[in-house]
Amino acid sequence: MKLSENAIKVLEKRYLSKDEDGNLLEDCEGMFRRVAKAIALADANYTDEDGLAQIEQEFFDMMSDLEFLPNSPTLMNAGRPLGQLSACFVLPIEDTMEGIFETIKNAALIHKSGGGTGFSFSRLRPKGATVNSTGGVASGPISFMKVFNAATEAVKQGGTRRGANMGILRIDHPDILDFISCKKDNSEITNFNISVGITEDFMKAVEYNLDYELVDPKTKETAGKLNAKSVFNTIVEMAWKNGEPGIIFLDRLNIDNVVPKLGEIESTNPCGEQPLLPYEACNLGSINLYNMLTEDGKQLDYDKLAATVKKAVHFLDNVIDVNKYPLPEIDKMTRGTRKIGLGVMGWADMLCSLGIPYNSQKAIDLADKVMGFIQENAQKASQELAEQKGVFPYYEDSIYAEKGIKLRNATVTTIAPTGTLSLIAGVSSGIEPNFAISYIRNVMDNNELIEVNRVFKDTAIREKFYSDELMKKIAKAGTVKGLAEVPEKVQNIFVTAHDILPEWHVKMQAAFQRHTDNAVSKTVNLGHDATTDDVREVFVLAYKTHCKGVTIYRDGSRDLQVLNIGKVK
Ligand code: CDP
Repeated sequence: MKLSENAIKVLEKRYLSKDEDGNLLEDCEGMFRRVAKAIALADANYTDEDGLAQIEQEFFDMMSDLEFLPNSPTLMNAGRPLGQLSACFVLPIEDTMEGIFETIKNAALIHKSGGGTGFSFSRLRPKGATVNSTGGVASGPISFMKVFNAATEAVKQGGTRRGANMGILRIDHPDILDFISCKKDNSEITNFNISVGITEDFMKAVEYNLDYELVDPKTKETAGKLNAKSVFNTIVEMAWKNGEPGIIFLDRLNIDNVVPKLGEIESTNPCGEQPLLPYEACNLGSINLYNMLTEDGKQLDYDKLAATVKKAVHFLDNVIDVNKYPLPEIDKMTRGTRKIGLGVMGWADMLCSLGIPYNSQKAIDLADKVMGFIQENAQKASQELAEQKGVFPYYEDSIYAEKGIKLRNATVTTIAPTGTLSLIAGVSSGIEPNFAISYIRNVMDNNELIEVNRVFKDTAIREKFYSDELMKKIAKAGTVKGLAEVPEKVQNIFVTAHDILPEWHVKMQAAFQRHTDNAVSKTVNLGHDATTDDVREVFVLAYKTHCKGVTIYRDGSRDLQVLNIGKVK
């Protein structure tokens, strides 16, 4: 097995089965075997024992060769009593006391099982509205968000990771200004990412510098007006200040809602890549593109990629059947649409190996080609599964029924952040550029890991400029740009997140979005000195290039950030 020391550390700490005293009951290979076996079982009705064994082996090989990994809950829980395998959930919040606290309870159950939850708070009546039963006044969405946050704090996810939440409020909710600045202080509402749900009408009002109407969700009456440009500027200022809120283009999520008859999409999962209907869950998985290269690392092996996509779709589709859902409503919705989210990791490492700078048109063109190829093959695989096992149960309510395209899964692709998966696979995360060539990483409970990019290391050794001293120097500088010891060509290829202009980050997100059913997890990194105008330009460009949302982060704008440049132990 090709696991790095860091990967083994993470797996032992959080993923491998343990007994009550904390002794390991399996090794890493045992974990992949457990997962492969449990997921293959979904085929028990479709094949004989030999067939099952073959499928299990295929799944095992693809995971243990680090070609494909399912999201963390699948690795942790498959074949174990908990059996909850999805990373992403969206729950509705009704505008009643019972409804709100019912959802808090349900979110706690999901967090306990290792999943993350997204909510729209938009249906809640605004602060100060009347409460009929008591004649008192409502405390509004933000105060309830704080209750959700406190509940999350108290429930550690399955003893492994703390629950993550997404909180969304529509731009036309009367409490929107409070929402936009509710995380002004970084120590507030720490278990939530927040995003403003933006509409096309609002973006038009910004463009023409118009006022727009706020609507009371309870009475549906107009509750005042705000100037769109000034609200947009407030979002920009807050995002500049510490990265929150992000924005999400609600109308776009709904244009791509393939089962509109089942309801409206009002939220995504915590990291924004998976829009879902209320009570829907989705399981994700990612192909390691770096391991899809030919042996010499100079070309992408499209045959291998096609074969891996096919197996990965089979795997993720099986997960839906063996999954144990935390609520009957979720069981029904999730089995009804059978959404899966296949994505990628190791994109930046792959580009480096191919000698293509991330910030180049060549890289954008390749993104279109590679993700287009994955999307096409994933749909094909889902069509083949539909022939064998049937279409998803809500198919007749979907846009695919009108088109006559028979699919097993309502969606097939999502670009996840792969925060832990990329660490396990030892490659760059999702479609992000490398953050630095060598760096210190804060993980779990403030532990720190030192990392040197292995593609860079290989290149440096091959081109004979490797030295430990140089690696330390690079860690301190946070870039290879301008270092005399590094050949210029290599400097151009091994660009890091901060060497890359924000517009290239957005262009890359847009390229992947063009070929992704769901959404794309991406952070647009800005240097510490970036201005609010720079942030505004990023937001507008993301809108114009048809991204579904955007998250920015200005270096050093939070006290505690996950990745630090130029910090050596
Ligand atoms: O790499 P891994 O499978 O652990 O997760 P990821 O790709 O970084 O995140 C995928 C999704 O998992 C997120 O968008 C969340 O829905 C969920 N997640 C969570 O609930 N809690 C975390 N601490 C990390 C991820």
